[in-house]
Amino acid sequence: MALERSAQLLAQIRAALHAGGGWLPFDAYMQQALYAPGLGYYTGQAGQFGDFGSDSDFVTAPELSPLFGRTLAAQVAQVLQHAGLDTVVEFGAGSGKLAAQVLGELDRLGCAPRQYAIVEVSGALKHRQMDTLRSAVPHLAERAHWWRALPDRFEAVVIGNEVLDAMPVKLLARHETGWMERGVAQEGDDLVFADHPSGLQPPTPEAHALPLGSVTEIHPQALGFVRTLADRLTRGVALFIDYGFPQHEYYHPQRHMGTLRAHYRHRALDEVLLWPGLADITAHVDFTAVALAAQDAGLDVLGYTSQANFLMNCGLLDLVAAAFAEGPAPRAPSSSAAVCSPLTPPGGSHYLRQTAAVNKLLGESEMGELFKVIALGRGVSVPLRGFTRGDRTHTL
Ligand SMILES: C[S@@+](CC[C@H](N)C(=O)[O-])C[C@H]1O[C@@H](n2cnc3c(N)ncnc32)[C@H](O)[C@@H]1O
Repeated sequence: MALERSAQLLAQIRAALHAGGGWLPFDAYMQQALYAPGLGYYTGQAGQFGDFGSDSDFVTAPELSPLFGRTLAAQVAQVLQHAGLDTVVEFGAGSGKLAAQVLGELDRLGCAPRQYAIVEVSGALKHRQMDTLRSAVPHLAERAHWWRALPDRFEAVVIGNEVLDAMPVKLLARHETGWMERGVAQEGDDLVFADHPSGLQPPTPEAHALPLGSVTEIHPQALGFVRTLADRLTRGVALFIDYGFPQHEYYHPQRHMGTLRAHYRHRALDEVLLWPGLADITAHVDFTAVALAAQDAGLDVLGYTSQANFLMNCGLLDLVAAAFAEGPAPRAPSSSAAVCSPLTPPGGSHYLRQTAAVNKLLGESEMGELFKVIALGRGVSVPLRGFTRGDRTHTL
């Protein structure tokens, strides 16, 4: 079934290649592989998110532990309360677990928003999100709405976890004659990379000077997304959490082969053209470019730090301590247990699992340092709690 879908998608990609004279820019390929209606990785199936051991391809922070969303909610609550806002907007809500965690915690803190709007490009995931919210936070589910598009003007706290990395990138490859755009062509039955002159250049002098043979990415789609958001957010704060670096690290000679990867069953594959529609494709985020795009469109950069700093500043360890002190959780139905049950006390397998998850969220060699949080905002003057210690805005 999955292989059949991949074959169908491959036929569509071949047709697009034919229409394009035998060459497709990589971002056009990635758009099809991830988002072709009914066939793409995110639009064709809905089983990719989950824990290790299941059929999933990767695990995101809200899938790892409910404490991620509950901690993020502390930052959301601060802005909702300080700015008197009543709307939260989440981009790319995946399985819906983050929405359930954030909504549930905001309710517990006494500041559940009037509406929790989700902007999701995948119809399959939208249905999964509805199911998750209905079973995990039934009393809040009617506050969730799915926006087809972003309104022209809105006020809100915006969140997006691992959304920017899922947006199609352009690839650049350095040849003796200069930089060329890397795209996709066909050789026999296989899809292969092929480079064409397109005039596109890397964004910085350091990137420009990467050694011969280097391959790197630029992110026009993610930056266009940030500009649109910035144009329309009349008041509020947007928080994006993702793996990535400032430009001086992104385009460092040590990273001269770029960051593009495919993910399949918890393994990172270098062969990103393998199995279109069956493997996730992703590239790291250029946080300097995100900050500049937002600033150019009138937003302020309110903070930038590692995920570990952000979660610690927002009280993750207090939540862990409180959850353990609460003692054993009553048995809950399985879906809601996965979303927002307290932790069982030391000794239980759930305790061990959650301790491992917290280590992963904070660990320097795990998500704690590779993942960053950036806050962009307009008309909000309160210093944000998540950036009180370890703000690295100056490194962007
Ligand atoms: C890697 S998943 C992350 C899911 C979820 N946020 C999590 O942390 O588990 C990327 C999500 O972003 C969505 N997405 C990608 N581009 C988007 C866009 N332009 N607008 C809204 N959602 C988008 C995908 O459909 C998917 O739900």
